[in-house]
Formats: sequence, structure tokens, C-alpha cells
Amino acid sequence: MKPPAGACAAAASGPLTGTVEASPDKSISHRALILAGLAAGESRIANLLESADVMATARAVGALGAQVERSNADWRVIGPGRWMSPDARLDLGNSGTGVRLLMGAAARFDMTATFTGDASLSRRPMGRVIEPLTRMGARFEAVDGDRLPATLHGSAALRGIDYTPPVASAQVKSAVLLAGLGAQGETIVREPRATRDHTETMARLFGADLDVERAGESLVARVRGDRPLTPVDIAVPGDPSSAAFPVAAALISPGSDIAVRGVMTNPARVGLFETLREMGADIALTPAEARSGEATADLAVRFGALRGVDVPPGRAPAMIDEYPILAVLAAFAEGTTRMTGLAELRAKESDRLAGTAALLRANGVAVELLDDGLIVHGRGPEGVPGGGRVETHQDHRLAMAGLVMGLGAQEPVIADDVAMIATSYPGFFDDMGALGARIAPVD
Ligand code: S3P
Repeated sequence: MKPPAGACAAAASGPLTGTVEASPDKSISHRALILAGLAAGESRIANLLESADVMATARAVGALGAQVERSNADWRVIGPGRWMSPDARLDLGNSGTGVRLLMGAAARFDMTATFTGDASLSRRPMGRVIEPLTRMGARFEAVDGDRLPATLHGSAALRGIDYTPPVASAQVKSAVLLAGLGAQGETIVREPRATRDHTETMARLFGADLDVERAGESLVARVRGDRPLTPVDIAVPGDPSSAAFPVAAALISPGSDIAVRGVMTNPARVGLFETLREMGADIALTPAEARSGEATADLAVRFGALRGVDVPPGRAPAMIDEYPILAVLAAFAEGTTRMTGLAELRAKESDRLAGTAALLRANGVAVELLDDGLIVHGRGPEGVPGGGRVETHQDHRLAMAGLVMGLGAQEPVIADDVAMIATSYPGFFDDMGALGARIAPVD
């Protein structure tokens, strides 16, 4: 089914049952297209996420000189070996990952490209990648040095740097490492708290001379820019950030018993599942086949009572996109849930901290909004009233979190605009419908 546009309502639907395949991972899909575009020759990508964000990256990689096309169920990418100035601006739509990773990947070619995006992306900070890439030898013109539209003048004479990003961001790390693939000497990125390491894992599959050293929570990645990438075939694993929505729906719909198959279990992505275990959730993981160097598992999820917890701030990088849905689950739990260390959420597709607090309040849940977090007062056995209209601010994760809340609440919940769900999880309505969820368009 084509995902609906406009407003949708979700209502209590009885027990959710059945099995769905996890939606393909968005982070891995962007990286597969970009690295395949950098490698000279033909790579194939199986199970690519065909969402609006990823398709924007596919078009951009094509405009930079690669041949990118669907071939039966797979995607075929033929990298030209050297990227060229595109004829037109590169419009990355809503995708922070797409624009930031592409700026890094393109920086090492003698070419000029202008990057644009939608209203949300045009508000988001780009200085965090512009600054290190400028230190490596690229030049940028950007609105206030920080916002789109931004024009990149790349350089075939980039120099490696030793960089510690000021924010925990896999997008910043990846932009610097992708530039480092073609820079002179060694490029080092030091993360006091490791973020997702998909770029490192996949770049090695493409033959990059890259190594990773971990100690406690920290990660140091080093890449040497002396080795050309070679094409490979990639299989994209399931997205834990998308799987979070059917999992949450089952946890709050009495009597539910569902399975989500093929979810990536990279430790840098499964903070939500760790937190849910601490909340008492009944989630069983059975290891499944690894895909392109990433472990996966089948999840079996059953409804059950949840209790509030304190989420350690150090866990934020491993569940950065999952706080809106965690807050919804915390609303159903007994007791208080505290989540802090989340200032970065204000720089996502919307101000997700404020948006999540408003989502809960509109549905009768008490919540305290902190500068860098939320305190959610769970309703426990009293139940969540619901009945609210959620302002999604064109943010896909707020839209999905609001709809899931409606499945467990006493009154239906309306999300004011669900169109943006297509940016990350185009199969959301089909998957939720297959499990028995009642979600339908409203005026
Ligand atoms: C992503 C990293 C995260 C995350 C985003 C995808 C990635 O952003 O929020 O949805 O694919 O690298 P930051 O790295 O900026 O925190």
C-alpha cells in the first residue's frame, strides 16, 4: 500500500500478532550507495531501503558520476573512479546522513557541488562537517558558514587530520573518514563515546586501509588514503530504529505476541533493546544470519507490564533516534523514567525533545522537559488517556511514535501529518496493518 499523506489516527486494536521482516537499515543503505559510488566498477546492493532519504542519496551519487539503477530486486552501482561536478544542485531532501556523508565523500575530488535540502534540513547544523573538512583542505560557502545551501569546492590534495568531534555524531565521524579515504597520509577520528561504526565496517569490505581501536566507551578509527576501493556486493540488514515501532506497539497492546525478523544487533544501535530489558519487557533474541559484517537477530516480543528506569546518558549514541518511542513506552510504564544527555535531539529533523514532550502532554501524560532530557511520569495500570492530536513538525519519528501511542491508549491518537514516514520506513503502514494495528487516514 502507498503510505497515506495528511493526518492519520491509530486506535486500540486488540492483540497484535504475526511476523514481519525488519525494514532495511537506513544508515547502511546510505553508506552502501556512497561507498559503491566511490569504488571503481560494479557493486550490487541487496535489500536496499527504498525510502525518500535513501533515494535522494542514490540520485546524488548518480549526479556525481556513478551509474545507479535498480536491477530486479537489487541495486547496481557502477563507480566511475573519480567524481565530477554535477550539472545541478544536489537536493538531499530531509536527509542529514545523506548530505553530511556526501560532503565528506566528495571533498577529495577536484570538483564543485552545491548541496540543498528541505526546510527541516536547511535548519540543521552543517558546520560540524564543514569545519573538519575545511581543515583537510576543502573549501565551503554556506549560509552563516553552517547551513544549507552549501557549496563545496573539493580538492584532490586533501590532507589527513587527527580529529576529535565536539559532538557524538556518526555522521561527522563518517564524513571525515570518507574524506580520509582519499587524503594524503593518515586520517584519525577519536570518539570519547563510540557512535555507530557502519562506515568503518563497510569501508573495510570495500578494501579500505582502515582500522578501529576500542577502549571502554571510546573508539579511534584510522584510515590511510593510499588504497583505491574495490567493488563488492552488499546485503543490507534490518533497521533496529524502524523495528522499534512494531516492537513498541506489541509491548503496549494487551495480549500481543509478534516477531520481527532480521534486525541488526550492532551494539552501537541496540541501546533501546537494552533499556527495554531493564524496563522488564519480554523480548527474546535469536541470532540470525550476519549481513555484510553486521550481526542480526530475530526478535520475539510479547505484551507485558513495564517499569520506569533511569537511562544512562552514555547510552545515547546507541539509541539516539529511539527516544521519542522510548518516551511513549515510558508513558505506559509504572513509575518514572529519566532520560538525559540528549541535547543533540534538538538538532534532529525537528526539536525532538520539545516535540516528544508535547506528544505526551497532548495525550494526558505528565512530563518534565529539561534542557537535555525528559522525565516521564508513567501511568502504569491507570493507562494512557490518549485522545490527542500530535504535532509531528514534519518529523517521521514523531509521527510513528504518536501513532504507536494510539494503539495502547484509551482514546485514539491522531498524528497531524504522516507523509514524512516515507523518509525512513515506507513499509510502516503495511507492517503495522499485517500485525493487526488499526491506523487509518482522518480529515
Ligand atoms: C546516523 C547517525 C545519527 C542518527 C541518524 C543516522 C548515521 O545522527 O541520528 O538518523 O547514519 O550516521 P548523528 O550521527 O548526527 O547523531
